[in-house]
Amino acid sequence: MRVLLFGATGMVGQGVLRECLLDSDVESVVVVGRSTTGQQHAKLRELLYSDFLDFSPIEQQLSGFDACFFCLGVSSAGMSEEHYRRITYDFTLAAARVLARLNPNMTFIYVSGTGTDSSENGRSMWARVKGKTENDLLRLPFHAYMFRPGLIVPLHGIRSRTGLYRAFYALLGPLLPFLNARFPKYATSTSSRKFITENMLAQPI
Ligand SMILES: NC(=O)c1ccc[n+]([C@@H]2O[C@H](COP(=O)([O-])OP(=O)(O)OC[C@H]3O[C@@H](n4cnc5c(N)ncnc54)[C@H](OP(=O)(O)O)[C@@H]3O)[C@@H](O)[C@H]2O)c1
Repeated sequence: MRVLLFGATGMVGQGVLRECLLDSDVESVVVVGRSTTGQQHAKLRELLYSDFLDFSPIEQQLSGFDACFFCLGVSSAGMSEEHYRRITYDFTLAAARVLARLNPNMTFIYVSGTGTDSSENGRSMWARVKGKTENDLLRLPFHAYMFRPGLIVPLHGIRSRTGLYRAFYALLGPLLPFLNARFPKYATSTSSRKFITENMLAQPI
C-alpha cells in the first residue's frame, strides 16, 4: 500500500507515520508538509511544500496512492473563524479535490474531532467548520472516512505542536493511562496498540 500523509510533524501525524513505517502492508509513505519530520527511513519520502491552497505545482507527485491520512489541523483556540476555516476547510478541500481527481480509488482518512457538527449550523465555531469540512469531503468521488477522536494520548515520545495541548497533557499526564482504560470510547492513543503504561507516555513539556 502506498500512503500519502499530511500533518506528519503534528501529534496525530507522528503517530500515523510511526504506525505506517512499522506496518509491513505499507510499501511507502510520502509526507507533504511545510516543515521536515527530521526522520529518515527506507519507506519514507518527504515533499516539502507550503502553499496548501494550490497543489498544481506538485500535482504530478500526488498520484499513484492507495490511501491518504489527512492529519493537518489546528486548535481553534484564539483563532478567528476566517483563519480557522482557512486551515481546516480550505487547506483540506484543496488537497482532497486534487487527490480525488488523481486517485479515484484512494481511501481518504480525515482526522476530525468528537463533537463535530454535521448540521453546520450549531453554536460552536470549530464544530461547524469541521462539520462542513467532513460533509464536503464525503461528497468527493473517492472513499472518504471521517475519524472523530476525543482525547488522544501521545505515546513513544510524540508531542503536540500546539502549546495549549502540550500544557494539557503535562497537567493530565498521570491520569492519561486511567482515562484511556476507563473511557475507551472517548480516549485513544497515537499507537494502534491499546495497552498504555506510564513509561510509554510522552515527556512533559
Ligand atoms: N491532539 C488531539 O488530542 C486531537 C483530538 C481530536 C482531534 N484532533 C485533530 O487532529 C488534527 C491534528 O491535531 P494534532 O494534535 O496532531 O495537531 P498538532 O500537533 O498541532 O499538529 C498540527 C499539524 O498540522 C500542520 N499545520 C498546522 N497549521 C498549518 C499551516 N498553517 N500550514 C501547514 N501545516 C500546518 C502542522 O505542521 P507544522 O509542523 O509545519 O506546524 C502539524 O503537522 C487536528 O485537526 C485536530 O483537530 C486532535
